[in-house]
Amino acid sequence: MEKKPAGGKSSCASDRAPAPVDAPGRPSVPPPADDPEMVEARTQYLALRKEIRPDSDTQQRLARARHRVYTTVLDGNLTCSKLPSRLKRVLDVGSGIGCWAVDIARRHPEAQVTCLDHHAVRLADAPANVSFLAADLNRAWPVAPNSLDLIHVRAMSDDVVSWPFVLAQALKMLRPGGQLEVAEIRPRFWDFDGLFAVTDALPEGEKMSAELSAKMGVDLDPSVNLPMWLDDAGFERAAQRSEILPVGDWSKDAKLHQRATVYREMLELSGWEGKSRQLFVSSGWDLPRYTALVNRMKESIMSGGVRVYMTAVFTTCRRPADEQ
Ligand SMILES: C[S@@+](CC[C@H](N)C(=O)[O-])C[C@H]1O[C@@H](n2cnc3c(N)ncnc32)[C@H](O)[C@@H]1O
Repeated sequence: MEKKPAGGKSSCASDRAPAPVDAPGRPSVPPPADDPEMVEARTQYLALRKEIRPDSDTQQRLARARHRVYTTVLDGNLTCSKLPSRLKRVLDVGSGIGCWAVDIARRHPEAQVTCLDHHAVRLADAPANVSFLAADLNRAWPVAPNSLDLIHVRAMSDDVVSWPFVLAQALKMLRPGGQLEVAEIRPRFWDFDGLFAVTDALPEGEKMSAELSAKMGVDLDPSVNLPMWLDDAGFERAAQRSEILPVGDWSKDAKLHQRATVYREMLELSGWEGKSRQLFVSSGWDLPRYTALVNRMKESIMSGGVRVYMTAVFTTCRRPADEQ
């Protein structure tokens, strides 16, 4: 596991504005085809997603809160994978304002860390070993094959068109023995006490979001299939670690309470919408209807009667070391 330095300050404490970085030329490989209705719905949805600028004030605050959530779950570490003491080349796919990339670059000053994002932005205080690459992760990556020690993909399920495509790119760009880590919060609510009524807003919202995403061919819950896709793609040693993320202030356990606190900060910054506003809007929901559902979900959590939690899942694997 990636170790936290003593007293190390997270890059995400920074409030300085990121500066835009120019996009280099890149090869164009279209994502796999589906039926035309699905493609049209997904195109609309992805266009709405692309309007989100990671360097807006709100998104920057959200990115920092998200980084706190994942690193708190990992007890201050940046990966669940056990990493070699020296890393040469690291790629963060869908890096946003680079919270994770800047932190790994500081902890591994010997590594060259590349942030890949279609809105390439740069933290003003990024160390010299971080570089930015403007590219579309759903098209062939403009990265040298066999070159990377570590690829990190976190919170990207809303934006990946085809996980098998992304995994094939990752396998190609990793050196033999190189590691891949995918981290996602599953879009599922669990209930310790089995008290969810069939009419509860949480399972209702969860089900609705699963139905709408299925219509677009977007997999918001890839953790379930990732082990199979990794095996199909040719990775080895696939493993998963699932961690509880309490929703609401119900846990007496100090560790879970801390997770709940940082997760609540993140949910509040997102207006309790989770990740799904663009999904509902591009499926024809008007905003008041969507807001009403979100408010009911929030009330269900805040009422305190149910011990709700979600899970953060870390999927790790490596490219076989002994291949040519
Ligand atoms: C939810 S944020 C996750 C950011 C980061 N991985 C994290 O954990 O904080 C999604 C990021 O992916 C980027 N993104 C979305 N679709 C993309 C695409 N097709 N190609 C490259 N980047 C994309 C967005 O610009 C945004 O910065």
